[in-house]
Amino acid sequence: MIRLKNEKQVEGIRVSCRMLSAMYRELIPLVKPGTETLELDKWTQNWIKKAGGRPAFLGYGPKSNPYPAALCISINNEVIHGIPSRRKIADGDLVSLDCGIDLGGFISDQAITIEAGRVSEAVHALNVVTKECLYRGIGAAKAGDRLLQIARAVHGHAAPRGYGVVRQFCGHGVGFDLHEDPQVPNHPHGPNPKMTRGLVIAVEPMINLGTGDVEILEDGWTVVTADDNLSAHWEHTIAIFSDHTEILTEKVDP
Ligand code: MF3
Ligand code: CO
Repeated sequence: MIRLKNEKQVEGIRVSCRMLSAMYRELIPLVKPGTETLELDKWTQNWIKKAGGRPAFLGYGPKSNPYPAALCISINNEVIHGIPSRRKIADGDLVSLDCGIDLGGFISDQAITIEAGRVSEAVHALNVVTKECLYRGIGAAKAGDRLLQIARAVHGHAAPRGYGVVRQFCGHGVGFDLHEDPQVPNHPHGPNPKMTRGLVIAVEPMINLGTGDVEILEDGWTVVTADDNLSAHWEHTIAIFSDHTEILTEKVDP
């Protein structure tokens, strides 16, 4: 069931989104070769607590295997849900960060992909096209249009350029919970509801250098490319109004 948001509720989500983007602006300079990913997570948990929020990912998921961190840090062939660890970021790594904040019951969700040190031209191009896919998808999110227009925009930008579009994981409704209806695919398939005023969704293309096929590691979380090729991920939380669409999270990259 899709839970539409009224103006006051969108404002609550907007404040949560602004906090999340402010966090990212301070975090980004720390994401560089030599930094341990667990350090980044500790820093993030502290930042969110001090700001008066709660990390929305921490403890999320099945009781038997709750997500153990505030950040997802997915490096190179890791697509999403990489768990912070003693691993140090290396020169040339493609580092995807994903985070959410619960601020007074209002949930935000944003992901970015950072090139640590110097990456190859092909990897940089993957990152650029994935970010373009995000903004094309958002450009297709309009009241009165159907949801799969987003997928058509994302897929139509990535696939002709030879990239793989991840099909097994999607964007989603967000705001009262981290994952709400509807699913927001990047690959045009599945239910295709009309987008209406009050719809708040996370648009999040996951684009691969090779095929779009993925696998889940034994930790139950880390999603990796099936062919071990690199992957990038960009995400904004957006709100649809009758006459315009607003990006609630902010641009944080330089
Ligand atoms: N932004 C991520 C997503 O939409 C949320 C991470 S799931 C968590 O899939 F379990 F790690 F919280
Ligand atoms: Co998300």
